Amino acid sequence: MHSLSRRILPWLDQRCGAGALEEFLRRKTVPIHRHSLWYYFGGMTLFLFVVQVLTGILLLLYYQPTPEDAFESVQYIVTQVRFGWLIRSVHSWSANLLVFTAFVHMFSVYFLKAYRKPRELTWISGMLLFFVVLGFGFSGYLLPWNTLAFFATKVGTEMAGAVPFVGKWFLIFLRGGEEVTGATLTRFFGFHVAVLPGLATVLLAMHLLLVQHLGMSLPPSLERAIAEGRQPARSMPFFPNFLLRDIMGWYAALGVLGALAAVFPWELGTKADPFAAAPAGIRPEWYFLFMFQTLKLLPAKVFFLEGEFAGLLGFSLAAAVWVAVPFLDYRAGFGRVTRFFTGLGVFALGFILVMSALALR
Ligand code: HEM
Repeated sequence: MHSLSRRILPWLDQRCGAGALEEFLRRKTVPIHRHSLWYYFGGMTLFLFVVQVLTGILLLLYYQPTPEDAFESVQYIVTQVRFGWLIRSVHSWSANLLVFTAFVHMFSVYFLKAYRKPRELTWISGMLLFFVVLGFGFSGYLLPWNTLAFFATKVGTEMAGAVPFVGKWFLIFLRGGEEVTGATLTRFFGFHVAVLPGLATVLLAMHLLLVQHLGMSLPPSLERAIAEGRQPARSMPFFPNFLLRDIMGWYAALGVLGALAAVFPWELGTKADPFAAAPAGIRPEWYFLFMFQTLKLLPAKVFFLEGEFAGLLGFSLAAAVWVAVPFLDYRAGFGRVTRFFTGLGVFALGFILVMSALALR
């Protein structure tokens, strides 16, 4: 491995004048401990994001964002374009895996308390990225203009419309009017291929630069053990050791993705008919199910508030607490674990899992 780095780094330096890159790659290390596995999930999310960009650009060569042509253009991609079905299937499967790995990455950095000082901004840029990833999922779902997507978007935007205080404005902003129409499709297309990619690029650059600048964090208990001399600090070079392991993970992910996309090609369903009645059992995508189920279970009135309003108020407050956790869990400073916030994380994870399972019954 070291002979590999000895050959590649001078080559990079000669070709690209990459002295700074070489210096960076030489210096960067990754800590080794029993939770090191979780360090791979950020890179895995990044890999799936790149898959999304590449397959998304290919889909754009044929996709047409109008209610008259959207469904037919996707039908053309999956039936006429060579390997079009595979590209569409990979894009859809990879979107779901990306949300999943982003969830795992978020909860793992939460439980490892990687948000502690000085990584507050890394956490906040990560949270904003997470909202952008959910936005990609929500806006992309409507684009094929099929029955399921149309009615799920109706329900989803209705939920957005019940958000406290700004709901009505938000609903009109998302739909481009009172109803889900061609104007909604135009907006969702704009969000999906222009606004969100722009935001994601800026946030990703910020997130990754911060991670490089600050280095990887250590779990608090290990940090204390090292400081008290009870355990030695162990690490491995990022290049090539960690990167090669990363690449093995990406290769495995590509295998899983290819298998899923080929064996279970993503369904297209039937073209949306805005005048038809909503089919039974309309649900949002799996990553919004926990909210959907909670709102369903709430009574019509919670104290003096409408049930849906109270539920969304609760979710908005919970999201605000989650974003602000580096500032609230301020006692989780050097080597101190604050049990309350660990408990809060366990509760949040349990709540999401139980509510999603109830919705899938
Ligand atoms: C598109 C989404 C995301 C991408 C591509 C991404 C990418 C990465 C990468 C490559 C790393 C370094 C390796 C690692 O720790 O796994 C990292 C670290 C980190 N990420 Fe993310 N991330 C994303 C979303 C998030 C989210 C949702 C959060 C949490 C709110 C988050 C918080 C962090 C933190 C705190 C670190 C530092 C970890 C440490 O120092 O131990 N990231 N991210």
